[in-house]
Amino acid sequence: MESSQDRSAFRRSLLRWYSQNGRDLPWRRTRDPYAILVSELMLQQTQVGAVLPYYNKWLRRFPTFAALAKASENNVLLAWQGLGYYARARNLRATAKIVHRQYRGTFPREIDGIRKLPGIGSYTAHAVATFAFDQSVPVVEVNTSRVLARLFDLQTPIDRATAREKLWRSAAALVPKHNAGKFNSALMDLGATICLPKPRCPTCPVQKFCRATNPEQLPFRKSRPALKKLTEDHALIVRQNRILLQQSAARWRKMWIMPPLYLDGLKPSRSARPSYTLSFPFTHHRVTLRVFRKQLHRVANQRQRWFSIRRLRTIPIPSPHRRALAALLNSPLDVKR
Ligand code: ADE
Repeated sequence: MESSQDRSAFRRSLLRWYSQNGRDLPWRRTRDPYAILVSELMLQQTQVGAVLPYYNKWLRRFPTFAALAKASENNVLLAWQGLGYYARARNLRATAKIVHRQYRGTFPREIDGIRKLPGIGSYTAHAVATFAFDQSVPVVEVNTSRVLARLFDLQTPIDRATAREKLWRSAAALVPKHNAGKFNSALMDLGATICLPKPRCPTCPVQKFCRATNPEQLPFRKSRPALKKLTEDHALIVRQNRILLQQSAARWRKMWIMPPLYLDGLKPSRSARPSYTLSFPFTHHRVTLRVFRKQLHRVANQRQRWFSIRRLRTIPIPSPHRRALAALLNSPLDVKR
């Protein structure tokens, strides 16, 4: 696709395909930068199917930057509960405050201004600029990088800086002056529905432009570090209809979890059997959560509090702990995942 005629032909083919086959996603029915930012942050580490129910509910609950800026952190974390990676929710709230107070509710239009907001990197800034303001800027995320790596037969690992630069440059060369938002959505959908890790080349609308000789093997990646195993032991401490929880200061900052066992001499003996075990991924870790029933007498630190079990649905609890609690307390707790 060296010539501008080739690039025009590529865009036409892709857009024609998209008008028939594009996905009807709720964030594509709006040009509101707030709603689009919400969708992009939710989609950062989460699949479209898992985001859909959260997205609509979130917008009903917090329909504008102003509404979100005024919400408490507890309620914001509660609405995000189940999506994971809660830094995204905290950053969204921090961004809402800045937009509401410093920008008087108007989201900045320039990429540099957008990028300065908390939690917004290059990809997200470009995505909002193109989807909300139809700016002619490239977007490189997991789907579009797979498409581009194949289109240009990129032989360097796409998680290397040089390859990233190439991807951004090639995406920039392809994006049209007009209708850029639609074009970028089309490129994403091509990656999400045709140019999959196992590609469906015979049905690809732009196959004749593709230089990949072996698309199944692209994109290359550096070998990933092995998942590290972590075991985390927590205590289930129930007295009458109340449970002792602790506000996390680490991974799940401000969310409520069962107290860690290593505190206050609660360490389980080697022979102790957990009442509940669950394993879940977290960044480069595979975490095993083990829960032990314990008796406790007094609160061990200032971050611990007794909650009535009925009130558990009004406080944010990360999914693994929520699941464990639902199973151990025999109560639904609105567990989502
Ligand atoms: N992944 C990241 N952003 C997306 C979007 N706007 N539509 C579909 N998938 C996405």
